[in-house]
Amino acid sequence: RGCKLVGCGSAVPSLQISNDDLAKLVDTNDEWISVRTGIRNRRVIAGKDSSLTALAAEAARGALQMAQVEPDDVDLVLMCTSTPEDLFGNAPQVQKALGCKKNPLSYDITAACSGFLLGLVSAACHIRGGGFSNVLVIGADALSRYVDWSDRASCILFGDAAGAVLLQACDTEDDGLFGFDLHSDGDGQRHLNAGIKEKETDQKLGSNGFVAGFPPKNVTYSCIHMNGKEVFRFAVRCVPQSIEAALQQAGLNASNIDWLLLHQANQRIIDAVAARLEVPSERVISNLANYGNTSAASIPLALDEAVRSGKVKAGHMIATSGFGAGLTWGSAILRW
Ligand code: ACO
Repeated sequence: RGCKLVGCGSAVPSLQISNDDLAKLVDTNDEWISVRTGIRNRRVIAGKDSSLTALAAEAARGALQMAQVEPDDVDLVLMCTSTPEDLFGNAPQVQKALGCKKNPLSYDITAACSGFLLGLVSAACHIRGGGFSNVLVIGADALSRYVDWSDRASCILFGDAAGAVLLQACDTEDDGLFGFDLHSDGDGQRHLNAGIKEKETDQKLGSNGFVAGFPPKNVTYSCIHMNGKEVFRFAVRCVPQSIEAALQQAGLNASNIDWLLLHQANQRIIDAVAARLEVPSERVISNLANYGNTSAASIPLALDEAVRSGKVKAGHMIATSGFGAGLTWGSAILRW
């Protein structure tokens, strides 16, 4: 069995925050942010549309409509997110919001900005080896909920969004995933993380407290901590190597690729990777000026815009790569 991409969709919150808006919050300015990152605006979950689950379901609906597949025909929902709205998993809530009445399997994949890439490869494995036929892969994150809004080095980077694709079983000759390459390095976690921290509680176990240290303290998550320079170096070093490995597995080289579609973290990272692979800027997809770094959503969001605007056409070959916290990174060679 093979698998192919048959639909995509995306959704963003309505609240837009510009660089000038951020300059009212921290000591920064539009020129610094645009020159160093390429970002001009980002969307943030707030007020009325404050549900990541709803955003993910909207993106998934777009993918199903494009593919002309009913929610009841979906047999697996993968929700790639590092900011779930339930610690035990967000995917079943999205499945419910979509109205998939036959209770398909649904579960979360947590791998920060590489989440969608990992979801895509996992979906392909489920189809090729597990008998699944219609798999929704959703990348959705609301990092704004974990941003330290007083840290000018990181708060300028992130936005919230959701993107989705539908991967469908097909004959092997129509297969749309040609090669992939996946990695992680826990040692690099110190450069980018949002770890747990203890929450103060006055709960006591009776007056004599007979078990030392009990009850355990509840925890919450810290805000995002990032060493931007190290993350930048890691991306520029590892992403071209990973794409080359995926291309090699596919028996292709960069000149066979119609589009380079990287996780949208920083325009300078995108440009450096494209230069290393000798891919001209006309073949590079970028929309981070409008949305910033939307973590697991960035690749399917940019893909959806490129497909709907007619840039990416049926049969086009795409080299895509996700990279970020973990550290995690990976690439895949796809046909739209
Ligand atoms: N506005 C104005 N000045 C700033 C700002 C700001 N928003 N932020 C930092 N500065 C200052 C610094 O304080 C520093 O000042 P100094 O020279 O007086 O000390 C100066 O600008 C240079 O700072 P650097 O950190 O060296 O700037 P750099 O060129 O490295 O750019 C950036 C910083 C944009 C964060 C860059 O390193 C980057 O994009 N890194 C990658 C980050 C990334 O992609 N992270 C997400 C990964 S995905 C995931 O999984 C979540």
